[in-house]
Amino acid sequence: MTADIKIRKTTQSRLSEVDFNNIPFGRIFADHMFVADFDGSNWTNMEICPLHKIPLHPATMAWHYGQAIFEGMKASIDEQGNPLLFRPEMHANRLNISATRMCMPEFPVDVFMDALSKLVYIDKKWIPTHEESALYIRPVMMATDEFVGVRSSDTFKFMIMTLPSGPYYSKPVSLLVEEKYVRACDGGVGEAKAAGNYGASLYPTLLAKKKGYDQVMWMDAREFKYVQEVGTMNIFFVIDGVAVTPNLSGTILKGVTRDSLITLLRDKGIPVEERPLSIEEIHEAYQAGKLQEVFGAGTAAVVANVNRIGYKGQDMILNPDEYKLSPMLKTEINGIRKGRLADKYNWIHPVGVGVLTD
Ligand code: COI
Repeated sequence: MTADIKIRKTTQSRLSEVDFNNIPFGRIFADHMFVADFDGSNWTNMEICPLHKIPLHPATMAWHYGQAIFEGMKASIDEQGNPLLFRPEMHANRLNISATRMCMPEFPVDVFMDALSKLVYIDKKWIPTHEESALYIRPVMMATDEFVGVRSSDTFKFMIMTLPSGPYYSKPVSLLVEEKYVRACDGGVGEAKAAGNYGASLYPTLLAKKKGYDQVMWMDAREFKYVQEVGTMNIFFVIDGVAVTPNLSGTILKGVTRDSLITLLRDKGIPVEERPLSIEEIHEAYQAGKLQEVFGAGTAAVVANVNRIGYKGQDMILNPDEYKLSPMLKTEINGIRKGRLADKYNWIHPVGVGVLTD
């Protein structure tokens, strides 16, 4: 569907200021953004416009009670110069799952696709071509009522911004098994991409960093026994030739990259198990020499190797140079994302010139 989206292009592009050989993750913003307002009944004021700051009242509800959700997705460019979105509908659907859980309005998937396609097409020159880089896309929705009582907001703002970005992790990451704090519990908001989930992770992550680790590895909230996910990613373990990843129990994020890796692995005949996985099982596999690979999976991180896991005062040391599945998966997913490999799973949504004229 083509929605009524006003388009107002910048007259002062910042593109020439960008050094595409040096694009750290999350700091450089493309020229335009998409904005829409929910007025209590409908999404209105839809516009693609120059990226700008938004003035907000101090009582804006998102700040007080955390009604804020987001998504993270990516666009690449193929060798013919066509922008390619990676599994955008899955992200749009997940945004709406998060919205429902956080008592926020859904954003219509067809309008999301239209707005995103137009935005990415307009800023297609901002899509980096380097193998490890992409245009990171950040949709975000927030409560905008100016009110201090605790209730759901009636009004909301939805925005999409885009950022040319290099890899989230430029080297293998170390993880500390978290034994005090939890990310999510049964019945909580762990499955939603709620801003507060990330806010709550910061203090335990700071403590892990002080101990020399990059990220925390979250355990279940009931027994501190089963692995959930790590700081910014889902997690995979290769144990004796089998790729094992925690099952979607309602407390972890339904990762788009997670789902893609499972599909790729199964298609290649590699056994994959989605199931509860205890830290004891991982530790025993490590001691028996059967823990072959550990890697994270996320949109920003893609496939990120783990080289060390701290558990009960000792380290499990891994050697990513010997990993086989992780580099294969990274090559496959990057190849599909960049249009070099056949898109046999229908993951790619090409953005053609027609998006601005139909
Ligand atoms: C992503 O991988 O896109 C995320 O949202 C994780 C992080 C950058 C917050």
